[in-house]
Amino acid sequence: MTNKVRGFPKDFIWGCATSAYQIEGSPLADGAGPSIWHRFTHTPNRVTDGDTGDIACDHYRRYTSDVDLMRELGMQAYRFSVAWGRVLPEGTGRVNPAGLAFYERLVDRLLDKGIQPMATLYHWDLPAALDDRGGWLNRDIAHWFAEYSEVVFRKLGDRVKYWVTLNEPWVVTDGGYLHGVLAPGHRSAFEAPLASHNLMRAHGASVQAYRALNLKSPIGLVVNLEPKYPASQEAADLNAAKRAEAYMNRQYLQPAIHGSYPEELQDVFGEAWPKLPSQDFDLIKQKLDFLGVNYYTRQVTKNDPSVWPVRASGVKQKQHTHTETGWEVFAQGLTDTLLWVKNNYGNPPLYITENGAAFFDPPQVEGDTLEDPLRVDYLKKHLRAVHAAIQQGADVRGYFVWSLLDNLEWAFGFSKRFGIVHVNFETLARTPKASARLYSKIIETNGAALFD
Ligand code: BGC
Repeated sequence: MTNKVRGFPKDFIWGCATSAYQIEGSPLADGAGPSIWHRFTHTPNRVTDGDTGDIACDHYRRYTSDVDLMRELGMQAYRFSVAWGRVLPEGTGRVNPAGLAFYERLVDRLLDKGIQPMATLYHWDLPAALDDRGGWLNRDIAHWFAEYSEVVFRKLGDRVKYWVTLNEPWVVTDGGYLHGVLAPGHRSAFEAPLASHNLMRAHGASVQAYRALNLKSPIGLVVNLEPKYPASQEAADLNAAKRAEAYMNRQYLQPAIHGSYPEELQDVFGEAWPKLPSQDFDLIKQKLDFLGVNYYTRQVTKNDPSVWPVRASGVKQKQHTHTETGWEVFAQGLTDTLLWVKNNYGNPPLYITENGAAFFDPPQVEGDTLEDPLRVDYLKKHLRAVHAAIQQGADVRGYFVWSLLDNLEWAFGFSKRFGIVHVNFETLARTPKASARLYSKIIETNGAALFD
């Protein structure tokens, strides 16, 4: 039962999230194969300041104290990702027991501290050996991913409490295959829809492999959703908002849940839109136990023929705060998004699997507490927005803040800090910020502290 005024559902899960390449470091340790992100960060001029994940937060070696820190903060769940190349250095075939053992130790430590593990199988770090075979453009990847998934399911299926197949397929294709700003750095309108489609086939094949093992924990897909509000009521802007929404939000939800693609994608991709075998949708459309929603911002969308290939762009809302990544702070968008999913996709169980903000944090002074008022404000507003969606009937069962630690923000390197815990990248010392202290109180009171 939800307390109508203040409370969250009584079994609501409060946690935090990270991903392998962003925090682990030691990417080649203990027989791991390199990933496309290892390659990308080691290619000149790809990442701000030439930063790499060679050390990152050194979590691979400090995971025990990191789990202790989570425990001190009161975390009830932890979403992490498994690096495919640690488990299968060539992506398929030979299993690397030492890589798998790292995740086993991590999961056992979490359970030991009373923290529920949520494991994501793919958070963007494709084994480089598979990229050499075409990566997400090769249809065989659905089988490669299912093979890898099965190895992890067999090892950890008795202990992981929630499984996620893919993290944000949209970012993989938009950043990796359409605009080339993320690994593997391709730029092609012909490749992007094929990569998307194979990601969704791989997702389906992984869920199939899971069901075949008869395991009991829930399994789901994580998508990043950004509501698109038309900048005006003119037809051109209304259509632009529809195209942008189809491209970013419906491109993944619709095949996964309804077994088809949005019509607008043909308009977006034009001659690059592929003919796809209709039987593929039988593989893609698997029963899901939950959906993970990552929410950061919204877009107020206007028609803009100069923007390839969606012909839509955002209108900056100067009246609102923007984060260090230039994203408008707009918490109402999270309520709207959750209700949109509820209304269009059959009211599925939802977890907010990421939500957070990069802000400039004042330099840390030894012994002092670290104040991050903008992140504190962001967190409060967005959690109230989650609460509002629950009050209106969205079946939201948990929330994972992004991120536990400041980490490697992909092509931005270490220049953008998303952590509720500060990481000094010279000493690797961890210091909880004010946002972490607030979050602990929110967890302790099951959300009531939000309304004090
Ligand atoms: C990703 C994270 C990333 C965060 C902030 C999400 O798109 O899943 O890996 O750090 O957003 O950009």
